[in-house]
Amino acid sequence: MIVYFLNAFVVQPWLFKRRYRKFRNVVMSQSTSLFGEYEVVERMKKENKFMSYYLMEDGVKNSEMDIRVVFSGKQPYFLLTSCRAFKEFRDLCPKDIDRWDHSSKSFGRMCVGSLDQIRSNQDWKQRRDAIMKVIGINFSSRFIPLMIRKIKENTNAWKQNEEIDLSKEMQSTTFAIITEILFGIDIKQKIGLIDYKDFKGKVHQINFEQYITTLSKDCFKAKSHPLSILFPFMVHRNLLRPNNIVGENCQNLWRVLSGYLEQNKDDDSVYYRVLANNSSFDKDLLMRDMILFYFAGHDTSSHAISSCIFFMKKNPDVIQKCIEELKVVFGEINADSIGEHLTPQKIDELDYLTYVIKETLRYDNPATMSLGYQAINDVTVCGVPIPKKSKIFLCIAASHYSSKEWKEPEKFIPERFNPESEYFTSPDGTPVGLNVFMPFTFGLRNCAGKSLAMLEIKVVISYIILKYGNKYELDPEQKKNDFIRFGVGSQFKTKITLTE
Ligand code: HEM
Repeated sequence: MIVYFLNAFVVQPWLFKRRYRKFRNVVMSQSTSLFGEYEVVERMKKENKFMSYYLMEDGVKNSEMDIRVVFSGKQPYFLLTSCRAFKEFRDLCPKDIDRWDHSSKSFGRMCVGSLDQIRSNQDWKQRRDAIMKVIGINFSSRFIPLMIRKIKENTNAWKQNEEIDLSKEMQSTTFAIITEILFGIDIKQKIGLIDYKDFKGKVHQINFEQYITTLSKDCFKAKSHPLSILFPFMVHRNLLRPNNIVGENCQNLWRVLSGYLEQNKDDDSVYYRVLANNSSFDKDLLMRDMILFYFAGHDTSSHAISSCIFFMKKNPDVIQKCIEELKVVFGEINADSIGEHLTPQKIDELDYLTYVIKETLRYDNPATMSLGYQAINDVTVCGVPIPKKSKIFLCIAASHYSSKEWKEPEKFIPERFNPESEYFTSPDGTPVGLNVFMPFTFGLRNCAGKSLAMLEIKVVISYIILKYGNKYELDPEQKKNDFIRFGVGSQFKTKITLTE
């Protein structure tokens, strides 16, 4: 046992660091095999910076860097950070680099065998295409009335001069929207209380939304639990707490959801539409895909919306320009009548709002990095050898703050997405590199819900601007913190107060 630990957590990392030290385009993370990036994350928090701010600093400070190597667990992983690295990555996918099977880890446990866990084969393509057909750009505009109904219901309870936890409010809004899109019902209302086991084995009865949010948090905790890092083989065999408890809760979620849907068929839901179009699909797997879409689809969008509302207000002329654009495109309408006017064609006319949303996604993308990939064979990226079976991620945060690609990356400037603006190009006057702006990443395995997400963000933001204009205030402490960001996992929650 001692020999195993010494070899896995001391000797191998040491040899690895020695091997990679010579590459000038590689930044070696200060992380340790046992505690991963814990130390740097804690330092960021102490400095009152967003916990992943160091990844953004990579982009600003390390312009020659292509790869960051991070030690966490037995095997280091590779974070690709530059435009050059992305291009080579793209050429290597999917033959030499493809999705990593994380079915025994973290969120992977919730939807074993789902789309994001399997290799880019025929089965994956068939399933992804079938689902995208009913949530893709041509179809998703039918969800606009639903989106407006849900944001209206939620904002109705907001009161003037009381602090609003915007992160929570938006989470509950996007949760309700994605639930109805996928399953055709508001599950929180219909399913009632469900048994949830905590890490001590005690069972609590909680509602569906609480179940999902608690399970998400517990998945993260279980993944970074020291025992999970020390004994990965036991995690794989489902022998280790708290991972096995997370597994039980995931199974329970799946059971409750399938049982409910079996008896409550809605032909309009994505689940039943896909089944109707593809009768040979395995129902069990499709349900796992739905759970994946559920998790991938509500937290990300809610972070993007609350972050956008925050940064619009922090930059006052931004919100004023959005209000004016809405007036020009829609005339004298208000939030109550927006439902009749918000068509996909009208939404397409909102150029400035699109720049603002894109800038929010550059500045504070809900995901700081991609989901996991794996080297299927030994590969070389930007001259750096990456051994077979290594984990690889695309670092969205570093790319979005690259001082090589963006002018003044630390500033929130929506105009950088306007082709007529001086900020549109990179500092040397050339176009910003291909794939450098990648909130949803790129290539075969990019986000399957990007069109739906963009539509949802635009609809919800338009509604909020029409209803409240600039009559809300930010938390003063949050407002003066230039290092605040609200991406998934952030220690900060967006707070606002409505004013007269
Ligand atoms: C602002 C909102 C969103 C952002 C920023 C976002 C971002 C991402 C990112 C970065 C990935 C990983 C891509 C990779 O590993 O290369 C991803 C994957 C994915 N996203 Fe999203 N996402 C958003 C909303 C959504 C929504 C609304 C849905 C579904 C309704 C969704 C479904 C998925 C799925 C299924 C995958 C896995 C794709 C695969 O492996 O084939 N996402 N998303």
